[in-house]
Amino acid sequence: MKKFSETYLKKLHIGNITADSNVLMAPLAGYTCYPFRMMCRELGAGLAFTEMVSANGLKYQDRATAKLLYTDKDETPKAVQLLGSVPSAFEHACKGRCTADYGIVDINMGCPVPNVVKNGEGCALINDLPLASRIIEACKRSGKTVTVKFRPGMNRDRIVVSEFARMCEDSGADMITVHGRTRNMMYDGEPIYEYIRAAKQAVNIPVIANGGIRSEEDAVRMMEMTGADGIMIARYGLEDPLIFARLTGRPADETKLSLILKQADRAESCFDEQDAMEHVKKIASYFMKRLAGTKALKQEMYGCGSMRQLRSVLLRIFGENREAEK
Ligand SMILES: Cc1cc2nc3c(=O)[nH]c(=O)nc-3n(C[C@H](O)[C@H](O)[C@H](O)COP(=O)(O)O)c2cc1C
Repeated sequence: MKKFSETYLKKLHIGNITADSNVLMAPLAGYTCYPFRMMCRELGAGLAFTEMVSANGLKYQDRATAKLLYTDKDETPKAVQLLGSVPSAFEHACKGRCTADYGIVDINMGCPVPNVVKNGEGCALINDLPLASRIIEACKRSGKTVTVKFRPGMNRDRIVVSEFARMCEDSGADMITVHGRTRNMMYDGEPIYEYIRAAKQAVNIPVIANGGIRSEEDAVRMMEMTGADGIMIARYGLEDPLIFARLTGRPADETKLSLILKQADRAESCFDEQDAMEHVKKIASYFMKRLAGTKALKQEMYGCGSMRQLRSVLLRIFGENREAEK
């Protein structure tokens, strides 16, 4: 099998920003806060996106949004993802104080969740090219680098991937990410490579391929089948962030134990104890997906009321013996 790092790894030029690798961590609601993004970056991800943040909601500057947008100087470049349907709200969000630290704005045009689509947001926008175009132009007026993440169509009978990709480029987008599943596939089934390939053939800006990458073999196949400029990993990046080190050829002597303890340190340094615990428990649950015999420990973990207690349970869950059970 080809090695991704020897065959496909490269830097990624997005507008005037360069990412160190073309292996990206996707936006994931509920997970991709600053501590998690930094873990992925340190393991080799060229970029890691915040979860989707409501463009309109930014004007309220509430505590929850502040947590989603928390970042620090060691995260460069920084990429925020916005969700919405109103061009002026995007323009305000991009020009406002809340996103001032972020050089890259990604526009969510792929979320398939019914409430989002009903609001005309997420992948509803793939049905409305003129509005999607005005949103991209509105973001571009901020001077930021603008990227778009979208699906190829609502279903297999309504594939718009080539014209949508061209519209993004013509409207000023600096990169696109294509999640190779249609809206009605939600998150299941294999991505359809030919749709991503069609996007790549339609434009000259970088095209990132997303969907179903769980191994180096999947990553190589995705690059081979689509001709994309890079890949974006979502759920498997949560389950095993070390995939970023494997794909980018970084020597990583980390284990899940060392990673989760570092997550705990980092989460504590930027969140209060309650928020830090909530985050670490969620990440630890994903790390545990393939560990045998952890049911009781998992219950114990969820019962922990302090970081001190949580650390000692994590030590038992991810201690050396259990790492071997993967
Ligand atoms: C729990 C969860 C949360 C997600 N949140 C977002 C999000 O905030 N923004 C976004 O563009 N996509 C989001 N996605 C979609 C992923 O970024 C990605 O496109 C999708 O999971 C396919 O990649 P995968 O097969 O590697 O998981 C989410 C997916 C999941 C499962």
